[in-house]
Amino acid sequence: MDGNGRWAKQRRLPRIAGHRAGVEAVRRVVEAAPGLGIEVLTLYAFSSENWKRPADEVSDLMGLLRHYVRSEVKDLHRNGVRLEFIGNWRALQPDLVALLEDARALTAGNDRLTLVMALNYGGHDELARAARALAADVAAGRLEASSIDASAVAARLDTAEWPAPDVVLRTSGEMRLSNFLLWQSAYAEFVVTETLWPDFDAAALASVLAEFATRERRFGGR
Ligand code: IPE
Ligand code: MG
Repeated sequence: MDGNGRWAKQRRLPRIAGHRAGVEAVRRVVEAAPGLGIEVLTLYAFSSENWKRPADEVSDLMGLLRHYVRSEVKDLHRNGVRLEFIGNWRALQPDLVALLEDARALTAGNDRLTLVMALNYGGHDELARAARALAADVAAGRLEASSIDASAVAARLDTAEWPAPDVVLRTSGEMRLSNFLLWQSAYAEFVVTETLWPDFDAAALASVLAEFATRERRFGGR
């Protein structure tokens, strides 16, 4: 989700106004996703590199996250949405972690849509943690080093229980992965839209899927 700052700047508003409008876009997209056939939607909400932003912006983003989960969890639950998290989210502020744990527990049985929020997430960090888990299993004698293959790595990623993404969408015209789902994106179809995230809506999401439908996927075959 990119372009919140530019959206605010265009309107001569503070960046927080762009982030707030970004939360509205999240609401629209989460509501539209199941009807468009999306089963797992992962939102890159806060990266492990976003800590480099000014402290007041970081605290605004954490505040918005807290507000979103608090105000939205009941509706999400009613709509059959399962809320999950990837990244080093347990290192966030303890009250926020408790809120996230509660939201996960409440919605664990839902299956209309899995909404995965990437929080304090970075692909490098995720892969390093998976490597650590592999090393610990080898050290404990539970795993043979020579038997480590791609599926052994995938099983130790935060996303172990979900399929690799079919589509990676980037808004606001940026053509970078920015440390998002590095391993999992190997064969994802990349879609870049000029739309700034706060302007994103159900129609924009439908166009992304229409673009995806035109792609011929060979997964390295021919
Ligand atoms: C996305 O918008 C914010 C996050 C999800 C952290 P940006 O804040 O990166 O917006 P631009 O790039 O300044 O427009
Ligand atoms: Mg940005």
